[in-house]
Amino acid sequence: MPDQIMSNSKIIGSYIEKTPGSEKLASEAQSLLPSGIAHDSRYLKPYALYIDKAFGPHKWDVDGNRYIDYFGGHGALLLGHCHPDVTKAVQNALSLGTQFGANHPREVEWADQVIKMVPSAERVRFTSSGTEATLMALRLARSFTGKNKFIRFKTHFHGWHDHMTAGYTSHFDGGATAGVIDGVADNVVLVSPQDISEIKTVLKSDSDIAAVIVEPTGSSFGMVPMTQEFLQSVRKFTEEQGVIFVFDEVVTGFRCSPGGAQQAFDIKPDLTTLAKILAGGLPGGAVAGRKDILDDLDFERAAAQGREKIGHPGTFNANPVSAAAGIAALKIIEQTDACEKANSSAAILRENFNIILEKYNVPWAAYGTFSGVHLYMNKNGQTIKQSTFNPNEIGYADLKNKDKELVTKLRLAMAINGVDFNNSPGAQLSASHTQEDLEFTTEAFNEAIKMLKNDGEI
Ligand SMILES: Cc1ncc(COP(=O)(O)O)c(C=O)c1O
Repeated sequence: MPDQIMSNSKIIGSYIEKTPGSEKLASEAQSLLPSGIAHDSRYLKPYALYIDKAFGPHKWDVDGNRYIDYFGGHGALLLGHCHPDVTKAVQNALSLGTQFGANHPREVEWADQVIKMVPSAERVRFTSSGTEATLMALRLARSFTGKNKFIRFKTHFHGWHDHMTAGYTSHFDGGATAGVIDGVADNVVLVSPQDISEIKTVLKSDSDIAAVIVEPTGSSFGMVPMTQEFLQSVRKFTEEQGVIFVFDEVVTGFRCSPGGAQQAFDIKPDLTTLAKILAGGLPGGAVAGRKDILDDLDFERAAAQGREKIGHPGTFNANPVSAAAGIAALKIIEQTDACEKANSSAAILRENFNIILEKYNVPWAAYGTFSGVHLYMNKNGQTIKQSTFNPNEIGYADLKNKDKELVTKLRLAMAINGVDFNNSPGAQLSASHTQEDLEFTTEAFNEAIKMLKNDGEI
């Protein structure tokens, strides 16, 4: 429950008053789940909301309060909650069985749809999550090249397996995080996401690099944006050195455009990792890419080349219900302007938020790419102007440097005003957000800023 630091806040008081059902559940959860939660980004003080149901761009908590949702199922719901076609596909699939322990027709259709939409995909191997997809991408790259190390960009996120932990929010020196062995961490080379010379130097000097993996719109879906020129340079260097270039499109796939960031930037990676939207709001992931690389998963092809096949079981790989949801969602995204709609809604929010920040003289800026909205919270007190703010001119550490308590209070203030902001803090838009939702959100942001001012926070 609210600790000392937060006890005098009107924002916290109003939040607690509005959400007694969530407070009760959070208190029960404390004795059952570490921190009372199941995903780190659902950690919020004094406690996070408990959601009962969701529809379109809205969700309702256990006390019946409605929120405009900007978590969007951690990015999985480009079409919003319960899109009728996706729901129908899932209901049909459920009535036919949830786990056949066998190949099934829908996995073929799902893979075909992925290959149709993702420009670099020649073969697809399904997994159960994005974390598993990036794990398999690395294994493929190592097996294919016979090399050991790989390069990651500092602050980029690729799931939580052992190779992906250092250098995301901590351990920027590459040292192993809790529970990870040094030998694993030693094979990961961390480089700057903003200084292209660093990766160039590593690629030239270290002949043991198997792969480079990147969040193609930059760390945390563009919180630290990555330019097309930067990506093009990495593509060129990796090609020159025979290093596998992996686009981690777990967030950006089917979101930036129907063919993901690679289509939007016109860059062809060797491998692509997918999840979230891929499975239409259900669990699922995939590695897609060059056939010759995915041949290391193929019994006959690996044997024909005298190579050891990579083993890959996985009880829920290409689960038939996830496949049904994925096929339905991807077809809608392919055939409609869903991506464009989400992108333009995000641009409207960014602009509206900046007008409000300027009006109240708050030295923050709203920015982002495609369907993302982030807030630069200017912890170091830089002089900025919202209308000309360019995040590419700000160092990555500064873009990520946020006062946790202030982020919490902003999110609580938004919740009091009927908006579930994500913990960036900001928003991932869906195609289901309407003009009315955007106006409601703008008004909520205006009220939240006023509340933060009254609380003496800004
Ligand atoms: C870019 C990126 N890669 C990988 C992952 C891991 O995916 P999952 O949560 O499905 O394991 C995420 C999850 O948020 C992600 O954002």
